[in-house]
Amino acid sequence: MTNSDQFRGASLTVDLRAIRANYRLLRSRLDAPTLCAGVVKADAYGLGASYVSLALFAEGCRHFFVAHLDEGLALRPYLSRSADIFILNGLPRGAEQECATAGLVPVLNSLEQAEAWSDCAYKLSRALPAVAQVDSGMNRLGLMSNDVAAFAKKYPRSGMFDLRFVMSHLACADTPAHEANAMQLATFRQIAAFFPDVPRSLANSSGIFLGRDYHFNLVRPGAALYGVNPDLTAVNPMRPVVRLAAKVIQLREVTRGDRVGYGLDYSVPAASRLATLSIGYADGLHRLWGKSGAVFFEGKRLPVVGHVSMDSIVVDASGVAPGRIGPDSEVEVIGDRQSVDDLACSAGTIGYEVLTALGHRYRRIYLEAEEESMPSAVFEDTLV
Ligand SMILES: Cc1ncc(COP(=O)(O)O)c(C=O)c1O
Repeated sequence: MTNSDQFRGASLTVDLRAIRANYRLLRSRLDAPTLCAGVVKADAYGLGASYVSLALFAEGCRHFFVAHLDEGLALRPYLSRSADIFILNGLPRGAEQECATAGLVPVLNSLEQAEAWSDCAYKLSRALPAVAQVDSGMNRLGLMSNDVAAFAKKYPRSGMFDLRFVMSHLACADTPAHEANAMQLATFRQIAAFFPDVPRSLANSSGIFLGRDYHFNLVRPGAALYGVNPDLTAVNPMRPVVRLAAKVIQLREVTRGDRVGYGLDYSVPAASRLATLSIGYADGLHRLWGKSGAVFFEGKRLPVVGHVSMDSIVVDASGVAPGRIGPDSEVEVIGDRQSVDDLACSAGTIGYEVLTALGHRYRRIYLEAEEESMPSAVFEDTLV
C-alpha cells in the first residue's frame, strides 16, 4: 500500500481464491474431455484481467476469451504460449499481421474476416489458428446460415486454417425454461455439422447449468467465475468474489423538511443523521440506484437518500447509535449483506453491468492465498 492508498475513498477487494473455487465448481459440472475456458474480456468484467487470468491459469485453464484485439495484446505477456487467447469480436480489418504475430486467435464472424485471415496465412506460409462463430438465433455476431456452407467448404480444407472450434452463443441461458435454449441448441447442431471434425463450443456460465447437451468440447464461462448467479431461478451456487467498502467522509444531523442532494429532490421526513460516503456514479454506482439503494454498517441497512453524485452519496444513518459511525468508518456496498446481484437488482440492471462499471478509483486488494488460514492480502494493485 502506498501512502496515498489509505486516503482512497473506497476499496475493492477481489477474492482470487473464490474465482479459482468457482472455476473448479464449473469444471466439476463437466464430463471429461470437455474443457473449461475463462472469459476475461472487459478487464475480466472489471476485476483485473491479468490477475484473474493468472489465477485461472493456475487452476489449469488454457483457453481465454477477450472481446477486443487490444485486450488480447495486453493480456498476451502475462500468459504462457501454452494458453490460447481468443478475440470474440473478430478480426479488425488491417490487424491480421499483428494478430498473427502476437499469437492471438481470432473468432471469425464473417466471410470477409475469413478471407483476410486466409490471405494473411498465405503471406506467412503457415496455417493460422481460428475459431468460426456461427449465429444460432441471437442475431448479434457470427456467420449467418447462408454463409456457413461457403465458409465450411472453402476454408477448413484450404490448409490455411487450423480451425480450433466452431462456436455460437446462447441468448437466454439464464432462464432455463426459455424455449430459445432448445431452439438454439438444435440450430447449433445443424450448423456445426458443416464442420464435422471441428470441436464445438456453445455454453456461457448459464449454459453450463442447462445440462450436458449444451457442453460440447469447450464451455466459456465469465460472470459465474466472478460470483454472479448463473441461474436466475435458483440459489446462487457460486462463491462471492467482490467486496466493495466506502468510507464515510462527513456526518450531519438534519431536521424534518431539510432537503438533500442535486435537485433537492429528497426531503427528510424526520430528524435524521446523514452520512456522506466517498463513492459515486464515477465509481460505477448508477444514478438511478439512489432511488432504492442502500449500504450496510454493522448489520444495519442505511438507505441512500437523494441522487447519487459523481463522487459521493448520502445515506441515512439514523439507525446507527450515535458515536458508532463517523469520518473514516467503512460501510459495505457489496459484501455479505448485499451481493453483486442484489445491488444490480436495486439498480434495475444485471450483475454484469455492476461489475464492469466499477471504475478505477478504488484501492484494489487481491486476495490470493489458497488456504483461508494463510495471510490473505498478499498483494495490492495501486496502479489503477
Ligand atoms: C460469446 C461469448 N461467450 C461467452 C461469454 C461469457 O458469458 P457469461 O459471462 O454469461 O458466462 C460471453 C459474454 O458475454 C460472450 O459474449
